Amino acid sequence: MKKIIITGATSGIGRELALQYGEAGHILGLIGRRTERLEELQSTIGEKVYIKNQDVTEHESAEKSYQELIDEMGGLDVMILNAGIGRIQMMPPWRAESKLIEVNALAFAHGCHFAFDYFKEQGYGHIVGMSSMASLVAHHRATAYTATKHFVSNYLVGYRQKARRVDADIAVTEIRAGYIWTEMTERAKGMFWVAPVEKAASQMIKGIEKRKNYLYVTKRWRLLAWVAKCVPEWLWNRL
Ligand SMILES: NC(=O)c1ccc[n+]([C@@H]2O[C@H](COP(=O)([O-])OP(=O)(O)OC[C@H]3O[C@@H](n4cnc5c(N)ncnc54)[C@H](OP(=O)(O)O)[C@@H]3O)[C@@H](O)[C@H]2O)c1
Repeated sequence: MKKIIITGATSGIGRELALQYGEAGHILGLIGRRTERLEELQSTIGEKVYIKNQDVTEHESAEKSYQELIDEMGGLDVMILNAGIGRIQMMPPWRAESKLIEVNALAFAHGCHFAFDYFKEQGYGHIVGMSSMASLVAHHRATAYTATKHFVSNYLVGYRQKARRVDADIAVTEIRAGYIWTEMTERAKGMFWVAPVEKAASQMIKGIEKRKNYLYVTKRWRLLAWVAKCVPEWLWNRL
């Protein structure tokens, strides 16, 4: 049985990961800002679930929450850094963009940093970061989002290199997710190959179990990643 922290567990991918891991009997530490959703998960999954209402952008208290969950669970094997936001409406554009960067890049990096230090001390562990196919190409309609996911991907590559240089068995998995039906995508237009969240989470869990460096979810997105790497910027700009 693994001890797993999942950030952004109150909806979408994080919630489904929690449900599937919970069903398999793992011990979970769940983080999000919506308490009622966390409590609902706790009562659905059962007693091996610990919850924290925590905004991951508040670094000092987030660190305290991570540590408290670890103490409650009796350790930590896997840290899944999934919390993220897409487009924010109802905010002036720059405030919305800086908030997105704060959550998707800065808070992600903080969680990764925390987990790495913990696992280094412990001698083993597994960091999982939720990136996206959007990390591979910039898009003028989602400039900050695509850039933050590029940050997540590159940051994880760096941490995988760091992991090889310390005396600890630390795996680093980057999930490159394609479109998945969640609250984040419910009003999005122009999507294709959209996966049900149950299927996506199940593929993620299998890949995490194998301690893969990269995971395309669903698998067919690997093909588009290959295309993205081959198409030069001038051609993307015309598309
Ligand atoms: N859906 C897709 O097609 C897709 C594709 C590629 C990558 N992704 C990535 O997958 C991750 C999960 O997205 P999703 O599609 O499952 O979206 P979602 O249903 O909107 O879930 C986002 C989760 O992040 C949490 N969150 C947001 N800001 C937070 C904060 N400041 N502190 C703590 N938790 C916070 C939310 O919880 P609270 O609101 O309760 O705090 C929620 O649980 C994101 O990183 C996203 O970029 C999604």
